[in-house]
Amino acid sequence: MKYFIVTYGCQMNVHESEKIATILENLGYECGQTREEADIIVFNTCAIREGAEDRVLGNVGNLKKMKKKNKNLIIAVCGCMTQKEATAQKLMQTFPFIDIVIGTFNLPKLGDYIQAVKTGRQLEIWEEGDIDETLPYKRTSGENAWVNIMQGCNNFCTYCIVPYVRGREKSRKLENIINEVKEILKEGKYKKITLLGQNVNSYGKDLENPVSFANLLHEICKIDGDFTLSFMTSHPKDLTDDVIDAVASEEKIEKSIHLPAQSGNNRILALMNRKYTREKYLEIINKIKNKIPNCRITSDFIVGFPTETEEEFADTCTLVKEVEYDSIFAFMYSPREGTVASKMEGQIEEQVKNRRVNTLLQIEKELQMKKEGIC
Ligand code: SAH
Ligand code: SF4
Ligand code: F3S
Repeated sequence: MKYFIVTYGCQMNVHESEKIATILENLGYECGQTREEADIIVFNTCAIREGAEDRVLGNVGNLKKMKKKNKNLIIAVCGCMTQKEATAQKLMQTFPFIDIVIGTFNLPKLGDYIQAVKTGRQLEIWEEGDIDETLPYKRTSGENAWVNIMQGCNNFCTYCIVPYVRGREKSRKLENIINEVKEILKEGKYKKITLLGQNVNSYGKDLENPVSFANLLHEICKIDGDFTLSFMTSHPKDLTDDVIDAVASEEKIEKSIHLPAQSGNNRILALMNRKYTREKYLEIINKIKNKIPNCRITSDFIVGFPTETEEEFADTCTLVKEVEYDSIFAFMYSPREGTVASKMEGQIEEQVKNRRVNTLLQIEKELQMKKEGIC
């Protein structure tokens, strides 16, 4: 029996697909190379932008024929998209050939649902649960091992669906993380550890014995072994000096920080509920540049947030030029149902968003060429 997993979205999902693989292998399935040879196909979905959801819908829809040919094929859909009750219901109704639809918090029970599939179709979306510490991961990312340090997000940026589908911030205990890293290094084949969380800088605040993210970094660096350590993602409002100092002083930590700015304009940043200003953001960037020479700095930007004017968009462009990022991701704002921004007046036309995203990407291209000495 073979399985095939289709993963969408961020590194967190890539890592969770490693957990899905473990669950399936524990049930006796082997990793298949194509969908066609699979006895079970699992879609691990993302809800961050409409485009991500559309891709899932298209790909799931395409399985209708395969299911007709092979009645025993099991199709499961999980991840951030299915944690939304309305979307999960709609998926079940639109695609009668889907066997299992489960939310993000139900993942550890995927094996039970698969075993129960003969008794009928299943849809299950729990509310929040604790972080699962029971299932190991079948690591599939070569020399890099992902380590989840927390789940969820408390920030409620007004455009973002993540707090609704991943729940509130919950940190894993320091000793569980340290033990996992030690186990990974014992295997001898991993050269890189990447810590994952939506907002890693607020790690540990919710623990019974609070630990700071900087402390966690220092503790991991104390572990013997030849490895590099990196982390994602940092929120500018929580990136404290002790974390910058840890990156500067610890040899094992990669000199690279992904610090999403989202916009360079203060009115838009306030509307986004980012809780920092352009000036504050630049202050942090300058600190990083001063304390960590040659640090790779990258960022995410959203263009066409509701009511964003041309002048306000121009502030984003000047920020990108001023920081001289090593690389950026630029996204067109995508309204997500249930978020505050999706109900705001002054939604921007697709055409305008498209033009702005291209302008930003052109600026990025010119920066890269300048850095490489081409112009
Ligand atoms: N926790 C991370 C972001 C995770 S989502 C952080 O706070 O930085 C990754 C990126 O997707 C975000 O940085 C943002 O730029 C983009 N994004 C999130 N919601 C979006 C939306 N509704 N429309 C367009 N881009 C969005
Ligand atoms: Fe979304 Fe903001 Fe949380 Fe990042 S910090 S996951 S953008 S709500
Ligand atoms: Fe997407 Fe969920 Fe990650 S919405 S970006 S897969 S946390």
